[in-house]
Amino acid sequence: MRSDTATRPTQAMRQAITEAQVGDDTLREDPSVNELIEKATALFGKEDALFTSSGTLANQLAIKVHTNPGDEIIADAHCHPFRSELGAGPFLSGVQFALLSAKRGAYAREDAEKWLRPKNGYPKSALLWVENTHNQGGGHVFPLEKLDELRAFSKEQNIPLHIDGARIFNAIVASGIPSKEWAKRCDSICFCFSKGLGCPVGSILLGEKSFIQEARRYWKMWGGGWRQAGVLAAAGLYALEHHVERLADDHANAQLFSELTAGVPGVRPVHDTTPTNLVFLDVSETGKTAHQINESMMEKGVAFSVPNAKMLRVVTHLDVSREDVETAAQALADSVR
Ligand SMILES: Cc1ncc(COP(=O)(O)O)c(C=O)c1O
Repeated sequence: MRSDTATRPTQAMRQAITEAQVGDDTLREDPSVNELIEKATALFGKEDALFTSSGTLANQLAIKVHTNPGDEIIADAHCHPFRSELGAGPFLSGVQFALLSAKRGAYAREDAEKWLRPKNGYPKSALLWVENTHNQGGGHVFPLEKLDELRAFSKEQNIPLHIDGARIFNAIVASGIPSKEWAKRCDSICFCFSKGLGCPVGSILLGEKSFIQEARRYWKMWGGGWRQAGVLAAAGLYALEHHVERLADDHANAQLFSELTAGVPGVRPVHDTTPTNLVFLDVSETGKTAHQINESMMEKGVAFSVPNAKMLRVVTHLDVSREDVETAAQALADSVR
């Protein structure tokens, strides 16, 4: 339960991988990757797409294409590229972040407006960044009304808007708002196959034809080009068919975990609700560090992640059953005690 990246391909997915038709994807000649791109573009209503090895690469390509060195990205302070992509934005694209503090990452138009720089003597406000669902925001679904307002702002100011939708399918299943509705409110969007969808590797970046053409150029330049990637695309195709609806089970399991651990002394949920598959727990009042609790749990065969000494992050996914959740909740109670 450290992360939904821990999922392993099922037997049926491995079978689909075995049977994949392949070709050279750097020449756009891999039939499985091309089929995946067709499916993704139809699903999200975008012109073109690129299959990448990771969500980080998809995000960094979006930054590279949307910005120039010296530009600024308006984003919430806990967004993935600022927190967890090792400074790749400044390093690869020469950009800096204008950071907002917003409850569960869902910033509003008024927040973004405060960072809109005057035209002369300041960095250029070049990109609006939205994360949906929000990882550090406890799997929060970005409210559609807020996104509408941000989109209006983005259009008025001619600033592109990117959605880091690493877990967009969790947002889609939890909210009932379909993929196209999210995608039509942004210039580019990416999502990950290697999280809740249960694939070993892969992400998709979507946008206009010219945007993807430029992204493909940097993708190849940065060593992201791969040849017979159809073996991985086959897993993605399988996941789109079989692993989307079932995300509701992960959400129900995360909810169950929240309920089962609500009474553990000294353990407090960081967020007021559990909308999708992520639960953050503040353990600072247990008298133990999060590392100590996690080590004790690992002896019982359960692992969470430890964002800092006071906090545990618990993630439900394809390889976590309802019984596993009950075991984990009990292991937490015992470890705290
Ligand atoms: C919101 C978000 N964006 C991007 C990523 C990056 O994905 P990857 O690990 O495939 O690089 C993650 C990974 O956890 C994430 O949570």
